Amino acid sequence: MLIKREKIVAGNWKMNLDRQKSIALAESIATQHADASSVTIVLCPPNVYIEAVGAAIGIAQGKNASRLALGAQNMHELANGAFTGEVAAAMLVDCGCRYVILGHSERRTLYAETNATVNAKTKAALAAGLTPIVCVGELLEEREAARTDEVVARQITGSLSGLPAADFTRIIVAYEPVWAIGTGRVATPQQAQEVHALIRGLLVTMSSADIAGQVRIVYGGSVKPDNANDLASQPDIDGALVGGASLKAEDFLGIAKAFQ
Ligand code: PGA
Repeated sequence: MLIKREKIVAGNWKMNLDRQKSIALAESIATQHADASSVTIVLCPPNVYIEAVGAAIGIAQGKNASRLALGAQNMHELANGAFTGEVAAAMLVDCGCRYVILGHSERRTLYAETNATVNAKTKAALAAGLTPIVCVGELLEEREAARTDEVVARQITGSLSGLPAADFTRIIVAYEPVWAIGTGRVATPQQAQEVHALIRGLLVTMSSADIAGQVRIVYGGSVKPDNANDLASQPDIDGALVGGASLKAEDFLGIAKAFQ
């Protein structure tokens, strides 16, 4: 059975832009994202600009509000407490977020996040009503040692362990080979499709074929308007998580269009 999954393209702004540029970018995207687009766009600005970007997106509300959403780049797994510098899931919801990126490779490598951390955060995000975008992906040396499948399988089972089967429909998985992030070296559509199919197979064993068939699996790593069409043509690639190219409205919208 062919299941039609709604496509999603998320922009991870990372630690870039200032308030004025964030608002200008969000307004530009909001006004140009076609009313009739079947693609959901998620903007993930730095936390301090989330509300300003939300207000900028509000300009287009009633127009394509349901196709344009806010997300955060990270969160803490606990609800509150003495965790200086951290932000909880409910706080993100309070600021208008519907999505949160979890376990990005930069968090895993620079801030020592483990699969167990990502698992705890995923559960906390779901409990707060957020849609987690859970990132996995192998390092270059792991791919070169033919260990991609093993690494990705460990990340998927570890990061998503203990979730009730029904909750799998509420998550998005991002496959982001670390060697492709910010390097301009994109995975070939075939390489990406292979891993996406592997991930979907793992999700079948963790939930059911029916549920796994509904999970959006997006690709990330040097996605640009000129490689997005080929990626979008793959059966298990349901959208993109975009870093660098999400900072330019024209490029980002070009990518979203490819998934239409
Ligand atoms: P990139 O980043 O598009 O700049 O490669 C992707 C990401 O980090 O999510």
